[in-house]
Amino acid sequence: TVLGIDSSTQATKALLVDAASGEVLEERRASHPDGTEVDPRAWLAAVDEAAGPLLERAEAVAVGGQQHGMVLLDAQGEVVRDALLWNDTRSAPQARSLIEEMGGPEASVAEIGSLMVASFTASKLRWVRDEEPQNAQRAARVLLPHDVVSLHLAEQGTTAFTDRGDASGTAYYSTATEEWKPELVELALGRALDLPRLPGSPQEVMARTPGGAAIAAGTGDNMGAALGLSLSEGDVSVSIGTSGVCAMVSPTRPNDATGAVTGFADATGRFLPMTTTINAARILEAGRALLGVSHEKMAQLALASVPGAHGVTLLPYFDGERTPNRPDARATLTGMTTSTTREDVARAYVEGLLCSLADGIAALEDRTGTAAARITLIGGAARSQAVQQLAPAIFGREVTIAPEGEYVALGAARQAAWALAGTQEPPTWALSGSRTVGAEPTPEVLGAYRALRDRTADWS
Ligand code: XUL
Repeated sequence: TVLGIDSSTQATKALLVDAASGEVLEERRASHPDGTEVDPRAWLAAVDEAAGPLLERAEAVAVGGQQHGMVLLDAQGEVVRDALLWNDTRSAPQARSLIEEMGGPEASVAEIGSLMVASFTASKLRWVRDEEPQNAQRAARVLLPHDVVSLHLAEQGTTAFTDRGDASGTAYYSTATEEWKPELVELALGRALDLPRLPGSPQEVMARTPGGAAIAAGTGDNMGAALGLSLSEGDVSVSIGTSGVCAMVSPTRPNDATGAVTGFADATGRFLPMTTTINAARILEAGRALLGVSHEKMAQLALASVPGAHGVTLLPYFDGERTPNRPDARATLTGMTTSTTREDVARAYVEGLLCSLADGIAALEDRTGTAAARITLIGGAARSQAVQQLAPAIFGREVTIAPEGEYVALGAARQAAWALAGTQEPPTWALSGSRTVGAEPTPEVLGAYRALRDRTADWS
């Protein structure tokens, strides 16, 4: 029996799982304060509540966590300031300065595997140097959210540890040499900090709980989800939640100086190139609210129209966008006539969402030079009937719909089971209840979307 934990931005989820089959035996959750700046001790309390009662039944445990967050500890191990999280964009100017100081976008990608952005930990260190010099002086160690949770579960005297997947989102780790780049911590903060230990192999046991259970390295949430979904090389997951994340398991190191595809490492020794859109589930929410209907009705309306919505096209960049990189953009709805119906508008919203994700998949295929093998839909909006039926038409191929599940926590559990078994490859766990759906491809819909996308490139 193994325990998988997901310490996410809003809540902590814990799954007790049968190590041989992957069957979920028990599930618990606890919420904690949400936001962009949070006291890390709140996560530890939530972990005690959610995972505490399950811990003594587990032989091994691992933690998946929100990526990038900066947790600063002083020499006594006390928290220096609230953690700045992945969704805190105050360090955007600092990210730009660091890219310049590193020698430009190509140099940033060569050094850390990705173009530096405000989400990455290094830019947050620079912000602390610029705005809170007293905290910069007091800090002795920097950890990621999942590292603090792992350390909390470990016996006294354990030194902090992390994994290559989450490390690859810090911007002071090289995905090429698989080593820390302490000189980038110094560049960002103006002084050196202690960094957590890295495992020699992805299935290494990094520590023990006081009760003697093995603790695996853990990983970032996106890497955890890839493990939980049992993605193989070339497989793509499309997660439609608050943000839209397309991730591909790739044997080769991605290389994209435009920043559209971030070049993370995964938790198995491969890579996890990713695209992220800011507008995803909220596109359907905005359409539903505009039409004054429920989500079910919104899906019915969309399915009652035709491919291309009788010429109505939505570019869904409502709150500014990151893929494509148009931070100041607004949404654009075109092609309406006096005969346009609510069905057409609902259809254009769903198609706009799926076309923006199709652009993410295309970017992954383009930058890795690999065609997507299997595409798996997850996340809240993947429950929409309209999304499920129209995704294969817009993507132009079959799509697998994963059953609802806590895939980050399940992936962490799978890593724990892997550490327990000590085998070359992680255990094979069947994902029961997933369905594959096909549809007649509608390339003209994506064509109309891309034409509008390109025509509006210089609008803001
Ligand atoms: C990835 C990212 C988010 C967080 C969410 O770059 O910032 O997906 O990992 O927790």
